[in-house]
Amino acid sequence: MSIAIPSELITALRGAKHVVFLTGAGVSAESGIATFRDAMTGLWERYSAEQLANADAFRRDRELVWGWYEWRRMQVMKAEPNAAHRAIAAIASKVPRVDVVTQNVDDLHERAGSDKVLHLHGRLNRPFCFACGHPHTLSAGIPNEPEGGRRLAPPQCERCGGYVRPGVVWFGEMLPKSQWDAAVEACEACDVLFSVGTSSLVQPAAGLPLLAARRRAMVVQVNPNPTSLDGIAQINLVGAAGVIMPALVDATW
Ligand code: APR
Repeated sequence: MSIAIPSELITALRGAKHVVFLTGAGVSAESGIATFRDAMTGLWERYSAEQLANADAFRRDRELVWGWYEWRRMQVMKAEPNAAHRAIAAIASKVPRVDVVTQNVDDLHERAGSDKVLHLHGRLNRPFCFACGHPHTLSAGIPNEPEGGRRLAPPQCERCGGYVRPGVVWFGEMLPKSQWDAAVEACEACDVLFSVGTSSLVQPAAGLPLLAARRRAMVVQVNPNPTSLDGIAQINLVGAAGVIMPALVDATW
C-alpha cells in the first residue's frame, strides 16, 4: 500500500532550514519494545508503567522496580533500530538543522545514526545512586536474564553504598534542565515539527508541539491512533512510523 504524503508537507520539507522530531514509545514499537500504555506481561502484568516508574515504588520494593528496568534494558539491547529511526537519522543529511527530542529511554535513535539526541526522560543505560546521585557504570553486555519477570537486587554505589536506581526521569521528577531548555529552544525555532509515536499525554513534553505551532511552524503527527494533538497538528499521517517515515523520505528527496 502506498502512503500519500501531502504535497504541502513535501514543499515545506524541501524548503525547511530546521526540523524537529519529538518522539515517543511508538517510534520504538516496531523494534519490539512495548509502549508505556500497552498492557504489561509476566511478573508485571499486575502493574501499570506509572505504578513502577516513581520513587515511592523504588522505596517500597526496589528489587521489583530494578528488575523491571533491567528487563527493559535487556529488551532494548537485543532490539535493533527500525525503519523509522533510520529515516529520521537520514533526514539530518537533507535539512540544514535537525533536532531529535525523545521521551524514550532507549538508545535506538543513536544506534540508527542520529547524534546529539535530547533525552527528556533520561536513559536506561545511565543509572545513578538513589542516595547521592553518583553515576554508576553498568557491567558490559546484556543484563543477566531478568526475562520472564525476575526481581533483581540493584547494585550499590561505589561511593556511598546507597542503592543504584535507573537513569530515567520518574513521575513527579524534574526533567533534566539542559535537555529541556534545548528542546524548547529547538521547538520555538523550527520550521517543521514532527510528533512521532507519542500519546501526547505526558507533560511537559506534550506541550512542545504547541510551542512550535504558536511560532507558525508546521506541526505534523505520525501515529496510528488518535491523540489530543489531532486538532493541533496541521497534518496527521495515520499509520505506523516504520512505514510512514521512509515513505516520507522517498516522496520528498
Ligand atoms: N508507529 C507510530 N506510533 C505508534 C506505533 C507505531 N508503530 N505503535 C504505537 N504507536 C503510538 C500509540 O498509538 C501511542 O499514541 O505510540 C504512542 C505510545 O504512547 P505511550 O505508550 O503513552 O508512550 P509515550 O507517549 O512515549 O509516553 C510518554 O509516559 O510513561 C511515561 O515516561 C514515559 O516517556 C514516557 C511518557
